[in-house]
Amino acid sequence: MPQCPCAVIPVPNPTPLPPAILDEALARVQEGVLVYGRDGTLVHANPAAQVLYRSHPLYSGAAPRIEDLLPPHAVPQAREQGRWNDYLPFGEGRVLAAWLHPLPDGEHTLLLLQDPGLVRDSDQELLRRHAELNVRLTAAQEQLLQAEKMASIGQLAAGVAHEINNPIGYVHSNLGSLQEYLSNLFALVDAYDRALASPDPAAQRQEIDATREQLDIDFISRDLPQLLTECRQGIERVTRIVKDLKDFSRSDRDHSWKLADLHAGLDSTLNIVWNELRYKATLDKQYGTLPMIECLQSELNQVFMNLLLNAGQAIEERGVITLRSGAADGMVWVEVGDDGPGIPADVQQRIFDPFFTTKPVGKGTGLGLSISYGIVAKHHGRIEVDSNPGEGSRFRVVLPTRQPRPRL
Ligand SMILES: Nc1ncnc2c1ncn2[C@@H]1O[C@H](COP(=O)(O)OP(=O)(O)OP(=O)(O)O)[C@@H](O)[C@H]1O
Ligand SMILES: [Mg+2]
Repeated sequence: MPQCPCAVIPVPNPTPLPPAILDEALARVQEGVLVYGRDGTLVHANPAAQVLYRSHPLYSGAAPRIEDLLPPHAVPQAREQGRWNDYLPFGEGRVLAAWLHPLPDGEHTLLLLQDPGLVRDSDQELLRRHAELNVRLTAAQEQLLQAEKMASIGQLAAGVAHEINNPIGYVHSNLGSLQEYLSNLFALVDAYDRALASPDPAAQRQEIDATREQLDIDFISRDLPQLLTECRQGIERVTRIVKDLKDFSRSDRDHSWKLADLHAGLDSTLNIVWNELRYKATLDKQYGTLPMIECLQSELNQVFMNLLLNAGQAIEERGVITLRSGAADGMVWVEVGDDGPGIPADVQQRIFDPFFTTKPVGKGTGLGLSISYGIVAKHHGRIEVDSNPGEGSRFRVVLPTRQPRPRL
């Protein structure tokens, strides 16, 4: 990465420049200089920046918002670490060097774009390799996401197997009873056949009544519909678990953003996870009214599963997991809370770091929250944590209802 063109040169006695001089100076800078407001709208672009983004093949005439140009983690990283820099693919194999700096007023952000043509020749090969590595990194991240999802399914396999075995067990036992009932009913039909074939069928009435009693036909006619209803419910339950598992394990590889019902996703995730949690926790579900939101649903389900599992794992003996949701100002939120021991401040700073775990070896990989953070950032949302030792924890996922459209 070449050095940022804005690297600070010490000035002995800085005097504020008149705006006209500043504009003139910026007009002569070869790098693209863009200033964004807090809400991501463009407030200033020097002529070099305008030439750069107008040359983008997807440019549609509108001023590009910050999220149209940069990957989702860029702004949070710049806010946290004081700056962000990377190479940006800019259409047709072109790559720009980009630097992002929050400005000291806390409101504006400076984005500098440098055309590779201005970069030294020796950097060209580096640029190409960097872009290549970025592509490989994206593929590796996708694989990691899928692997983590599969690992969590593995973790839940015993519970899911139990959950499937249970209805299969009673469907099997009901089928045994149905077989017996059926042979009794056939025996009764035989008795009727014999009576009808006899010279005086009415005289056989007593024998038929005795057979009915002996074969428990009155009980069978009461029990049989109930057994069939139970069988149907058992099979529907298994079908639902298999569907939930299929939905959950599906990878959104085609990156198809669709309008989805978050509550439906939450409920099917709960179906899979609950076997793991039911012995420790009771569920307090307080769903609000949510609009459909544009998302990669199976990835969001992975986030909810990680938060639910963490909540369950935090509870030592018995506790309550609270699942709440709501919508406000074009955003929706889902909150997973627990009344476990809470998270001390020093641990809280690290929980989103990859591989950070306080769980024993073999219990946690420390990837759940870092992967969830990535998924939520990809949705232009955020995860808020509210936790104090001794007071439990609440993880709130806040998501926009619609994704910003690329306007370049
Ligand atoms: N609800 C919670 N209560 C208390 N601590 C939590 C809670 N959620 C997360 N943590 C802390 O954050 C750490 C990181 O969580 P994360 O989900 O990323 O990894 P993990 O649960 O340890 O392992 P994995 O999710 O990969 O199985 C946990 O080890 C734990 O210390
Ligand atoms: Mg976890």
